Amino acid sequence: MKRILTYGTYDLLHYGHIRLLKRAKALGDYLIVAISTEHFNEIKGKKAYHNYETRKEMLEAVRYVDLVIPENDWDQKRDDVINYHVDTVVMGSDWDGHEKFENLRDICEVVYLDRTEGVSTTKIKEELHLSEDNLYSGK
Ligand code: CTP
Repeated sequence: MKRILTYGTYDLLHYGHIRLLKRAKALGDYLIVAISTEHFNEIKGKKAYHNYETRKEMLEAVRYVDLVIPENDWDQKRDDVINYHVDTVVMGSDWDGHEKFENLRDICEVVYLDRTEGVSTTKIKEELHLSEDNLYSGK
């Protein structure tokens, strides 16, 4: 059984997330998603719309996801790979070559997948703020 691990906030779940998760799962048999807790988001200076438990519940409903675990700090990755017997860590290409993941190459494979163009949680938040005209009107 090949075990895959990926990290992210996964707030306001969108099709860029789903495509990433689908391709990550296709690299193996069992997909673990580590999502940032409120505490870790504070450290990163981010604020998610949905709390940890809600984001976890939504990801658990995605067919490609087998297990959701908390990401509490920057330095847990090595322990996660060992404790969850991970074969491959997968990240979106925004993290390509980053030392936090490159440093894991002695204990697992590291793969970066292309991001989906044109969508992000930040973009959704910004555009929904613009005006009521952006809301789907059913027409
Ligand atoms: N991702 C992707 N394509 C996108 C958006 C995200 O492949 N259009 C991937 C990221 O590369 C990451 C995972 O989805 O591996 C979770 O990303 P996250 O940072 O939670 O989502 P974003 O939409 O990028 O959030 P933000 O705008 O807050 O940075």
